[in-house]
Amino acid sequence: MLAVITGASSGIGKEIAYRLAEKNYNLILIARRLDRLEAIKKDLSKLPINVELLAYDISDLDKCKLLIDHLKTNKPDIFINNAGYGIYGDSFKTDTTKEIEMIGLNITSLHYLTKELIQFMDSGTIINISSMAAFLPTPLLASYAATKAYVYSYSQALNYELKKGKKNVRIMTVCPGPVKTEFNKVANADPKMKGITVEQCVDSIMDGLKRKKALVIPSFKMKFLRFVMRIVPTSLILKVSYQVQNKK
Ligand SMILES: NC(=O)c1ccc[n+]([C@@H]2O[C@H](COP(=O)([O-])OP(=O)(O)OC[C@H]3O[C@@H](n4cnc5c(N)ncnc54)[C@H](OP(=O)(O)O)[C@@H]3O)[C@@H](O)[C@H]2O)c1
Repeated sequence: MLAVITGASSGIGKEIAYRLAEKNYNLILIARRLDRLEAIKKDLSKLPINVELLAYDISDLDKCKLLIDHLKTNKPDIFINNAGYGIYGDSFKTDTTKEIEMIGLNITSLHYLTKELIQFMDSGTIINISSMAAFLPTPLLASYAATKAYVYSYSQALNYELKKGKKNVRIMTVCPGPVKTEFNKVANADPKMKGITVEQCVDSIMDGLKRKKALVIPSFKMKFLRFVMRIVPTSLILKVSYQVQNKK
């Protein structure tokens, strides 16, 4: 069995790699920092699995095409669209070029990879990592939250179509709240809400995979928050999420 993980060099992607390795999945691990991927491969060297490393920048669609060509002859059982990041700040100040690059990675590359994979995968699961931010417009992470709303909406609707079309491929959407990874450092964010550990987050993902869930929201607190968000006016959600994200 083969699992492919984008953004496998740290955080959620790295932890998923270790968990799937324990279950004897062969792995293709993708990220830009090859040294990090090599360290993971070394850690896994005692296990009876193959680990292939691809130092690809997934925001580059040519690299995504190379990956898809490679996978056509080596079909994955699980593909995890995990690579992604956020950009903190007032949207009237943030760098537009960097923001467009982020939108390219979080939306365009994920969309392209998902769309290509469902053409040739006969069975299996595509896991698309969205965020709790998908459910709430998030001041100071505005464009990031919007990218994750796209991932949630597209993945859920596509999964329904696949089910109706009697296809054996499923899309599992994951919407974590804050998780202690390098995410905040990369985004230059410092939210007031405490995160869960990466192990707790990946426990939920592995459980969702086992139960063939269409949507995974790690932690009870976040499930409850989602329920509350449905009955609270958007004006209040905006006020609270601004306060949570604001560093002052
Ligand atoms: N942590 C949270 O609070 C949280 C909450 C909700 C959702 N998420 C989502 O969870 C996913 C994983 O994030 P994380 O929390 O684990 O953060 P992380 O520790 O910063 O990991 C991000 C991973 O994405 C990779 N990546 C970034 N840009 C890439 C690119 N252009 N090409 C290939 N790989 C790239 C990074 O590797 P390289 O830098 O080596 O390329 C790294 O392996 C993201 O989609 C994030 O939006 C995180």
